[in-house]
Amino acid sequence: MKHIKIGLFGFGCVGQGLYETLNTSQNFAGEITRICVKNKKKERALPPSLFTYQKEQILSDPTIDIVVELIDDATAALEIVTAALKNGKSVVTANKKMIAEHLEYLVELQKETGQAVLYEGAVCGSIPIIRTLEEYFGHEPLKEVRGIFNGSTNYILTKIFEERLDYTKALHQAQEQGFAETDPTLDVQGFDPKFKLSILLTHAFGIHVAPDSIVNLGINRLKPADLEFARDRDLQIKLLAHAERIDDQVYAYVLPQFVNSTNNLSAIQNEFNAVTLNGDFCDDQLFIGKGAGSLPTGAAVLSDISALSYDYRYEYKKHYNLGQLHFSNDRLIDLYVSFDSPNDLNLEDFESISANYFCFDRCYVQGKISLKKLLSTSWQDNDKISLIQLSEEDFDTTQSLSLKALEQEIRELKKGQKIREKISV
Ligand code: HSE
Repeated sequence: MKHIKIGLFGFGCVGQGLYETLNTSQNFAGEITRICVKNKKKERALPPSLFTYQKEQILSDPTIDIVVELIDDATAALEIVTAALKNGKSVVTANKKMIAEHLEYLVELQKETGQAVLYEGAVCGSIPIIRTLEEYFGHEPLKEVRGIFNGSTNYILTKIFEERLDYTKALHQAQEQGFAETDPTLDVQGFDPKFKLSILLTHAFGIHVAPDSIVNLGINRLKPADLEFARDRDLQIKLLAHAERIDDQVYAYVLPQFVNSTNNLSAIQNEFNAVTLNGDFCDDQLFIGKGAGSLPTGAAVLSDISALSYDYRYEYKKHYNLGQLHFSNDRLIDLYVSFDSPNDLNLEDFESISANYFCFDRCYVQGKISLKKLLSTSWQDNDKISLIQLSEEDFDTTQSLSLKALEQEIRELKKGQKIREKISV
């Protein structure tokens, strides 16, 4: 077996996990010969001779076989990956933002250079979902891919629901354990699972969808009243990524969702992730594994390095063989939307409203709204509202209340608010 020489970029949580898994593995023939890092002042547990601050010392070193890119700057990561491929080195990366935003380019660059890029560690940590989609499901038409694609938010929601821990403390714990991104808004606002979803759309359905075209709303806006709403009904809230094919259209989005105890995903706790697949032939499949953390993600990177050693590469089978599916946001979603004042949202954006609760503090409506509308800034950037997807099994989503009656109710409420303001003065 050939002894592989690896040049590593980045020595954070995943880089250290890779170092440990690689050196603990009993049958891996290879070593990290050089590590390129940015911070010269940081104390490192390894000999200084292993480190460099100049990327060329890896990229131009003819003795290095494989470049492993584990930094968190997507722009710099793309430059490194491009240079490595052009210099005749295959690459392993775990940078989901960079991959999601440039996958089409990376596919072309692999063809052009003849080198390979593998990125199992970028999607759902230790769950081998990309190779499973590529190899096992390469020829099966899939109907649905959904699940928990972010370990930090699942950890936070578990702590909130199981231990009644405060959101900020739970987020702090997720950061301390190395689950969260350097910028944790990427986790809590649902960007991180959206990048992963965008990557899986290529491997599951053969379509490249720019992350900007996909709706993502996270858990950062959830209010105590929303948590109580869920608890009162014996429900949990999970941040879920969805992709579904109906005829030749594929719909995809990331939203928090109410889940009941019979839902497979309700049992997925802490930093674990889960991916459910539904295929025309296999029906339902469920994959569970740690989605974040030093060793589980480091092990996924090690597995990619090992795969490169026997010349494995993604064939993008669905992309080249199907090519007739189209992404669309023309889809209605059943949502619970809570707010402080009816002025905080535009009820006319709803296609229909099935239930409402207006009061003096936190109000909510339940109704159908299109993904197209949710993509607009008035929904994406409106911090006054929180949104949670409803499931048909837990809520009657078939009712349709009259918008006129609701407007009348809001007028009454506003009068009431005036009275309350007078009383409090
Ligand atoms: N911040 C990511 C998560 C790390 O929490 O899932 C793994 O991609």
